[in-house]
Amino acid sequence: MNLLDSLIEKAKANKQRIVLPEGTEKRTLTAADQLIRDNVAEIIMLGNREEIQALAQQLGLEHTNKATIIDPKNHERKELYANLLFELRKKKGMTIEQAEKLVEDPLFLACLMIKNGDADGEIAGAQNTTGDVLRPALQIIKTSPGVKVVSGAFLMFTHTPQYGENGTLLFADCAVMPNPTAEELASIAVASAETMCSLVGVEPKIAMLSFSTKGSAKHEMVDKIQEATKLVKEISPALLIDGELQADAALVESVGSSKAPGSPIAGKANVLVFPSLEAGNIGYKLVQRLGNAEAVGPVLQGMAAPVNDLSRGCSVDDIYKMVAITANQAIGMKQNK
Ligand code: ACO
Repeated sequence: MNLLDSLIEKAKANKQRIVLPEGTEKRTLTAADQLIRDNVAEIIMLGNREEIQALAQQLGLEHTNKATIIDPKNHERKELYANLLFELRKKKGMTIEQAEKLVEDPLFLACLMIKNGDADGEIAGAQNTTGDVLRPALQIIKTSPGVKVVSGAFLMFTHTPQYGENGTLLFADCAVMPNPTAEELASIAVASAETMCSLVGVEPKIAMLSFSTKGSAKHEMVDKIQEATKLVKEISPALLIDGELQADAALVESVGSSKAPGSPIAGKANVLVFPSLEAGNIGYKLVQRLGNAEAVGPVLQGMAAPVNDLSRGCSVDDIYKMVAITANQAIGMKQNK
């Protein structure tokens, strides 16, 4: 069984409540129908009930009537969620009137449902930008205890079994932090290790990427990666990590052993931590398009409950898989509590 199939099976065995704020979006509704049919998750759709039902009928969907539908403009917990939002954000200057308006936004409502324990995870982004999906999650759900920053990882399923874990690698951060500090990069590395363990189930071997290997270049950008690597070793001494490494030294045995002899992971890295969002976002898209790899994500890591963002170009299949991944993150977080 491949990794994604096994994640789908795990989700079926321990069904989680996943909220889909973009309830009137065709691909989302079609994926919801298939997820309900296959018993992968309990689906909560946000949107106008009549609109959702009319669209389901137009698309010939047979299972969406088993989803819970909540209309953000009219439901029994509206006041409760408005008060919760007001309490959470009043120190930031939010008024109750602003909170009452914001709870009608499905992206805010989904996060408030999770915060209140009424849902286990969220997927959105087929219609909304990454920033619009992330902002309410960062404000309402926030980071897990001890985690500094939320970041976005991609599981990369390549056709090159000689690299990573039989061709599977985790790339981060590809989605959130434009210009991380050394401390933030260290936090991204630790979170990426956890994601690799919980979703792929293998020991993470982390490469902190740069344009330099072990001091081959001198630059403040290289210093930052060296500092981040040092911090990870202090925070989590058991992790297998090395940096700074160029991508070839991280991945290719012969290059790793000549450029970074004695490194615990050079030539066999399965987690690549990029120095910036530019590098990570461009890097994963190049591997996906030129290398014909399957890129699954971004899987958001470091959040206190799982919220995941889709690309607006996503397919029904992408949404289906991300629901299974989100459910697995929720299961993992409950087990670790
Ligand atoms: N981790 C944890 N908390 C964060 C993070 C983070 N990475 N970023 C912001 N926050 C918190 C802030 O502390 C703040 O909390 P507070 O209001 O309680 O004090 C809150 O979130 C809002 O902070 P802002 O600085 O106002 O956040 P901003 O509006 O600048 O947005 C965002 C943050 C949306 C993540 C921004 O950094 C962003 O747009 N990043 C790039 C996203 C993107 O476009 N990615 C590429 C496309 S994705 C793809 O291709 C797969």
